[in-house]
Amino acid sequence: MKKIQLVEVCKKYQTKEDTLPVLEGISLSVDSNQFVCIVGPSGCGKSTIFNTITGLVKQDSGRILINGQEQADSSSMISYMPQKDLLLPWRRVIDNVILPLKLAGVSRSEAVQEAMELMDVFGLKGFEERYPSELSGGMRQRAALMRTILAKKDILLLDEPFGALDAITRFKMQSWLLQVWNQFKRTILFITHDVEEAVYLSDKIYVLSERPGRIKLEQEVNLPRPRNSDMITGSDFVKIKKKVLKAIET
Ligand SMILES: Nc1ncnc2c1ncn2[C@@H]1O[C@H](COP(=O)(O)OP(=O)(O)O)[C@@H](O)[C@H]1O
Ligand SMILES: [Mg+2]
Repeated sequence: MKKIQLVEVCKKYQTKEDTLPVLEGISLSVDSNQFVCIVGPSGCGKSTIFNTITGLVKQDSGRILINGQEQADSSSMISYMPQKDLLLPWRRVIDNVILPLKLAGVSRSEAVQEAMELMDVFGLKGFEERYPSELSGGMRQRAALMRTILAKKDILLLDEPFGALDAITRFKMQSWLLQVWNQFKRTILFITHDVEEAVYLSDKIYVLSERPGRIKLEQEVNLPRPRNSDMITGSDFVKIKKKVLKAIET
């Protein structure tokens, strides 16, 4: 079952002076419970793909199907974590993460109870009453991810969630995300500019060209799960990584 399907999606932004072609014939698909990564250089149109999927930006041509439906009410099926974590700085962690539940009409006490049960999994136990500015970068991203997951949508769109983290924190977060994904069973489309991250996490990778973004390579990642750090130096992993790097280069 295809959860997300883009068929020949094109997008140009109109600015005062000229038109900026951003997406050129993007076709991709994500199956139910799959973890798919989009890799590409900065400015090539990756975030624009997410904005078209969520309907924030209208494509000029091409089709976007969610759960097999065109013009679906994407907000009921998709939870989008934008590139900036956008935690509200004046709200404590607990009140940030329960936001989607409250928007869905759940009472505060019920929402708090549900969130508290997850604090441990998200490594935020004991930090519920802190403000975002009192958290480390990794904790802020986990809080933002918790909020995204509490929205309880089938599909998660994650836009470079670990882009601003140092290498060690980033690796811990990747492994942690795979555990969370295994536990919550969602369909994930994930943007990164880190090739190793893409291979480590995903079932399939789409490599985008420089702007205007076109798909240069569609690469299956048939590595066994659960993934672990030993695999990263294994020959199968390295083979895929090389292929992706080569596609980016050429
Ligand atoms: N709303 C907009 N209006 C005009 N140009 C935009 C808009 N959003 C993005 N762009 C431009 O489109 C290009 C692709 O942006 P984006 O999708 O954010 O790339 P990426 O996420 O791959 O870094 C960039 O050159 C960016 O400046
Ligand atoms: Mg972006």
